[in-house]
Formats: sequence, C-alpha cells, structure tokens
Amino acid sequence: MSSIIKILPDHVINKIAAGEVVERPASVVKELIENAIDAGATEVFIDIEKAGTRLIRVTDNGSGMSKEDARTAFLRHATSKISDDADLEAIRTMGFRGEALSSIASVSHVRMLTATPGSSSGVMVEIEAGNVKSLADAGAPRGASFEISHLFYNTPARLKFLKSAATEFSHILAAVSRQAMAHPSIGFRLTHNKKPVLDLPLSMSVKERAFQLYGNEITENVMLFSGGRDNVHIHGLIGRPAYSRADRTYQDFYVNRRAVKNASLTHGLYSAYGDMLMRGRHPVGFIFIDIDPALVDVNVHPAKAEVLFRNQSQIHDLLRDVIREGLRAHGMPVISTPEATG
Ligand SMILES: Nc1ncnc2c1ncn2[C@@H]1O[C@H](COP(=O)(O)OP(=O)(O)OP(=O)(O)O)[C@@H](O)[C@H]1O
Ligand SMILES: [Mg+2]
Repeated sequence: MSSIIKILPDHVINKIAAGEVVERPASVVKELIENAIDAGATEVFIDIEKAGTRLIRVTDNGSGMSKEDARTAFLRHATSKISDDADLEAIRTMGFRGEALSSIASVSHVRMLTATPGSSSGVMVEIEAGNVKSLADAGAPRGASFEISHLFYNTPARLKFLKSAATEFSHILAAVSRQAMAHPSIGFRLTHNKKPVLDLPLSMSVKERAFQLYGNEITENVMLFSGGRDNVHIHGLIGRPAYSRADRTYQDFYVNRRAVKNASLTHGLYSAYGDMLMRGRHPVGFIFIDIDPALVDVNVHPAKAEVLFRNQSQIHDLLRDVIREGLRAHGMPVISTPEATG
C-alpha cells in the first residue's frame, strides 16, 4: 500500500501554530509587548486602528535587531532567548519559543523597522503571509517598530469569529494594562483610532502604576502586602474586604511578571479572605509571585497564559498565608482556620 502520511509544508505549519498563538488582535499586542520587554525597552508605544483589524503598531526603544536578525526573527523556532533544552528549565524572559513573530507574520502583513544602538542605519522588512517581500536599509531610531495590518486576511474563519470592535479593543486594553501593571518601570502609551487611551509614564512602584491605570477609587482601596520564603517572594496589592466587587476585573496574578491564570492561586486568594468576603463577591488583587524559574514550568500553554508550579499546593498555602498576614497587618480580623488546599 502506498503511503498516505506526508509532512506539511512550512506555510501550513505556521498557520496551524498561528491558530494557537494568535487568537485575536489582543494576542498580537501581547506578544509584541513581550518582545519589547525582553529587548530591554523603557518605552513602548501601542497604536491601534479599528480594534486591531486595520492596524496594530508596537514601537519600542529596546535593543533592536541587525539586518541579519531582522530576517531570521520571522522564521519558526527562531529565538535569541534560549539555545538548548537546559535553558527551558530556567526561563527568565517572556518569550522562549521563537514562535510569536512567525505565527503573526503567517496570518497578516507585517512591516518592521529596526535599528541597533550605534548602528549607522536601520533596516525595514516587509512580510506577507510569511514571505519576505522586501528587506532594505532604512533610517530608523534605536529599537523596533512592528506594524501589523490585514490580520487574519488569509484565515477567514478566524476573522469571522472576531467579536465587535468594542469587545476586541477591550481585550487589547486588558492585555496592555496587565503588561503595564507587571512592568511599572516601563512607560506605555496606547492610542485607538489616533485618540489617546492610556498614557503611563514610567513609575516607581506597582501602586503608582495602579493609580495611573485605575485611578483613585481602586488605589484608595488596596493595601500593599509582601512575604514569602526561600525561593519564593509574594507581594503586590490586595483589596480591602469591604471593597469587594461583582466580578474579577481587578484581579490578576503574575508569575515572574508574566500574567497567568491559575485556579490554585485564585483559590489561595479567596481562602485568605475567608468569611470576610460576602458570597458571590470578589476581592481586588494584583499579586506577584517571584519564584526561582527552576520551580515553575512556563511551557505549558500555547499563549503562555498558564504555568505549572513544581509544588502547586505549597505555593497555594504560602500565597494564602502571606495574604492573610497582609490583611492582618492592616488590621483586618483574619480567622486562620486550616483548610483544604487547592
Ligand atoms: N522588539 C524586539 N526588539 C528586539 N528583538 C526582537 C524584538 N522582537 C523580536 N525580537 C527578536 O526576534 C526573536 C523572535 O521573536 P519571537 O517573539 O518570534 O520569539 P521569542 O520571543 O524568542 O519567543 P516566543 O515565541 O515565546 O515569543 C526574538 O527571540 C528576538 O531575538
Ligand atoms: Mg516573543
């Protein structure tokens, strides 16, 4: 019998990967900001048109790329962040797979302008559906600027599943806000259809960044906390129990500055509050877990939105205890009953 199995061509492989990495315009924004952070940027500008369906532009003042790297960056599995499997055990950067740019480029048109510090000239690359259309020297400031247009033009199913512009933009705003909370020392600016939406100068602390993002009401109702042990430091802002909310809008967990969803961490937070929260109400919390990267696996989710702790229940208990201690330190009547761990 003749064989029926074949290896897919690269452009199909890239499109399949893109299906996982690039769910909606906000995913592109998230990946490009992560790259800017990894490049050491101190300023990131994000300009969006038509909720990202017409244009997503992310400009940073980071390390930039050489001409050679500007081309290589868009290839699948091309990364400067890890070089062998041992590196996977201790990831300190936001990116590590070398998949984001190749995925984005396979479902859009990309124009990138970049220059390294001190170089006499920069470079401009144009890519359509993953194919390089042009690569030429061009004047550019230090850093990198990515313009993504025609997103999902060659994946009509994905385009059809996009929600209204208001919903898609709210996802973009949430993605930018999460990155901004995690990196107060980076300045962010976000515009939509040329109108300013966020202007966050670099700030000194998480609390100051929370104020820039969410204003007085949230900032007045949160308390700083911090604690931990050995290789784990847990800190951030937690809401006064009396200031609970009807949803989880102001509740984010960050593991080594990466925004993640993790049911056990969420459970730890709620157990810390215990009876202080009314049924169906949610505490505000911006919670940072800084942990030895060897103790957490970040390579478990296609959009890097989840992590796996080597010792999940210890982290749960530690988080609960540190937050309880934080509440107690601020004069809240915490009751420390032993509970099942999540
Ligand atoms: N804004 C930027 N400034 C400088 N270099 C960049 C920038 N964006 C991307 N690069 C370079 O291009 C490479 C590929 O980026 P890409 O996002 O595809 O992969 P990654 O960040 O290494 O991993 P991941 O797929 O997990 O994001 C990066 O490793 C980096 O060397
Ligand atoms: Mg990346």
